[in-house]
Amino acid sequence: MTESVLIPHLADAMVRVTEVAAIAAETMAGRGDEKAADAAAVDAMRTAFNAVDFQGRVVIGEGERDEAPMLYIGEEVGTGNGPAIDIALDPLEGTTLTAKAMANALAVLAIAPRGGLLYAPDTYMDKIAIGGGYPEGIIDLDATAGENITEMAKAKGMAVTDMTACVLDRPRHADILESLRSVGARISLISDGDVAGVINTTNPMTGIDLYVGQGGAPEGVLAAAALKCVGGQMQGRLVFRNDDERRRADRTGITDYDKKYDLNGLASGETVFCATGVTKGGLVDGVIRRGGVIETDTLVMSSADGMVRKIKSYHRA
Ligand code: FBP
Repeated sequence: MTESVLIPHLADAMVRVTEVAAIAAETMAGRGDEKAADAAAVDAMRTAFNAVDFQGRVVIGEGERDEAPMLYIGEEVGTGNGPAIDIALDPLEGTTLTAKAMANALAVLAIAPRGGLLYAPDTYMDKIAIGGGYPEGIIDLDATAGENITEMAKAKGMAVTDMTACVLDRPRHADILESLRSVGARISLISDGDVAGVINTTNPMTGIDLYVGQGGAPEGVLAAAALKCVGGQMQGRLVFRNDDERRRADRTGITDYDKKYDLNGLASGETVFCATGVTKGGLVDGVIRRGGVIETDTLVMSSADGMVRKIKSYHRA
């Protein structure tokens, strides 16, 4: 059996992993403690991974071994039986959102056969992403945000004033905002959560046409793994603020610091992507507790067979 057949079959097991991480994280929603919320998700996710029949290896995780007690980069998880799989994970994408009980926090992971995901260091990444249906190569990280969205509007046959870009609300994005405003595009600012920001470009119901800006590199690879499943285009470039960050890249085997990665450079293998809502959100619902039942909502997608599923699960509390 080839790995292209095995990977989608792991999807159900991965759904369980993000479900339990989300349930654990949600117990900490609104408690003002980001670290405790993250720790709850990490602990639950690791326990769930270790029940899965695979040889899992964390390639994008909670940090390097000396700074992350669990789910660190290089950690092996699973029973050790079954396929050799690389894992990118973010047990709690939106620690601040959870601590403040705000919308759109997720438990997220992506898997691929060994070597199928970029071993991105824990640095920032400049990102640009769009959904499917555009000519190949229409976006370019080296063009301005205004130029990119103008080209997209032309391709779509729409006025640029009817196009919307999603951007993380950060002072570092002042130039991007100015560029988008100068061409008259709308801007949807988000406080956190750029994995969902990228995925939203693939769903016309969100009204988001373009995602652009600088966020976490790990989140960039996770978002690319999701786009692989549903179609779309993405580019990313690592951003290094100091030598320590460059050394992190050295340790992951990156030699070209300025490389512009396309979607396949970020996620070259077949992927499965899972996201379970922690707090309520646009992509998926959050964890809901009703009496003795806990309800979860998960988006699971597989690039090998193009499967996209929303899974509502009901767990005994
Ligand atoms: P955390 O859950 O790790 O806090 O990440 C949330 C997030 O908004 C990501 O979605 C995004 O890539 C990153 O933080 C942006 O980083 P910063 O908050 O430093 O601008």
